[in-house]
Amino acid sequence: MLPKPQKHVFVCNQVRAPGHPFGSCSEKKAEDVFMTFMAEVRARGLDGRVQVTNTGCLGGPCSMGPTVIVYPDAVKYHKVEGAADIVAIIEGHLVGGVPVERLKVPAEAWS
Ligand code: FES
Repeated sequence: MLPKPQKHVFVCNQVRAPGHPFGSCSEKKAEDVFMTFMAEVRARGLDGRVQVTNTGCLGGPCSMGPTVIVYPDAVKYHKVEGAADIVAIIEGHLVGGVPVERLKVPAEAWS
């Protein structure tokens, strides 16, 4: 039986045709973001407490991806572009409980 995760991280890996007006997280190397999240969560022994899932479009802003959402907090991040951003989310938000303000999507992007 698997433990119930305390945090669930969804990483958008939506693919769209080249030149699509929305753009996509896939074209911004979101697969690397997903793999780095998995590795950094495992390196910290957070397996079971934190679940990381590769997913389709999270509702944008697609041109500002890669986009990530953390539940149950419903905090959406954009421009999650490298290991420093990922570690900041893991250590600051998933472990520390404080969302990373510099990466948060503005509240108006949810409406
Ligand atoms: S394509 Fe990633 S949020 Fe829309």
